[in-house]
Amino acid sequence: MKILVTGGTGYIGSHTVAELIERGYEVVIFDNLYNSKEEVLDYIKEITGVRPVFYKADLRDKESMRPVFKEHTFDAVIHFAGLKAVGESVEKPLFYYENNIAGTVNLCELMNEYGCKRIIFSSSATVYGDPAEIPITESCPKGTCTNPYGWTKSMLEQILTDIHTSDNEWSVVLLRYFNPIGAHESGLLGESPNGIPNNLMPYIMQVAVGKLPELGVFGDDYDTPDGTGVRDYIHVVDLAKGHVNAIEKVTKTNEVNIYNLGTGNGYSVLDIVKTFEEVNNIKIPYSIKPRRAGDIATCYADPAKAKAELGWVAEYDLRKMCEDSWNFAKKRFK
Ligand code: NAD
Ligand code: UFG
Repeated sequence: MKILVTGGTGYIGSHTVAELIERGYEVVIFDNLYNSKEEVLDYIKEITGVRPVFYKADLRDKESMRPVFKEHTFDAVIHFAGLKAVGESVEKPLFYYENNIAGTVNLCELMNEYGCKRIIFSSSATVYGDPAEIPITESCPKGTCTNPYGWTKSMLEQILTDIHTSDNEWSVVLLRYFNPIGAHESGLLGESPNGIPNNLMPYIMQVAVGKLPELGVFGDDYDTPDGTGVRDYIHVVDLAKGHVNAIEKVTKTNEVNIYNLGTGNGYSVLDIVKTFEEVNNIKIPYSIKPRRAGDIATCYADPAKAKAELGWVAEYDLRKMCEDSWNFAKKRFK
């Protein structure tokens, strides 16, 4: 089977490409390299023995994507390409709406034109807003997003659902990720954001290598066991495997299916700091700061549906996530 992976040189995309190749899929990637580097293809080759076919193309420019569809016939598309920085989306909403929404509309138009109507889409737990229930099941109502990035995910879920309603040859899988962290065991693939990181684990890694002096913990007065925010951290390799399992679903049904990809465990900010320190034997200095606007207290998944219908369960624990994050950071950031 041949799979198109948009955003395949990015953090989650590159791990998924490696898993796909290991499981015998043929993979074609396109990416505009806005937030990733072409050298990732060499790392994928080092890991799997195969350098995936790569096109530099932009979702916003339909004609740049056309050769990809002209030169290949795909069994399905896994659509990672998009912008994801929450704060930047507040400052530049049009940039986000154009890139993520108009870009995905362009992609779907081409998929229609070339008769590939199966898509697995990177959604996010952010669509639940301040969740009505914990743990969060897929039947939990969608909520009010607190930023344009979140709205692009929520709106794209609706757009893909509407496309299926208008043409039931379309098959759509919406994967709502919780908090991906960790890196490939080889230390070759991982997340290296530009500038000062917004997310917890990339920030901790910068403190660990000595590039930032300390971690600011955003609030210790939440209604959680230690007062700091609780999230469902999931190893990026587990997340990648979830996509491979979803291929069977998207190729065998003509439905819209939604799955949470999380572990079902909630850990606080201080749990992460302590585990990272313990596993890697490094001190992470931190101080308590005010709450960050838009944050919620607690968010973790009920992953039972993905287990029942995709046969997928996250396998790696928090210690492994911390160990692999540091293994990558040591190699790449020092
Ligand atoms: P990433 O930035 O590492 O990867 C996204 C890739 O898309 C990058 O390589 C970037 O260059 C590419 N891209 C962006 N705009 C493009 C465009 N117009 N045309 C072509 N390529 C483009 O991000 P990631 O963490 O791997 O996330 C992948 C997907 O998962 C994104 O859609 C993201 O919103 C979603 N997601 C991520 C998280 C997370 O915490 N990392 C959580 C939930 C959902
Ligand atoms: N945090 C800190 N200090 C930091 C960074 C984060 O204390 O420097 C705290 C946050 O307040 C929160 C927790 O660490 O309690 C996790 O924060 P992240 O920024 O790592 O992740 P979020 O849960 O806020 O959001 C992430 C992605 C979103 C996605 C969401 C759900 O950034 O895009 O997970 O999948 F929508």
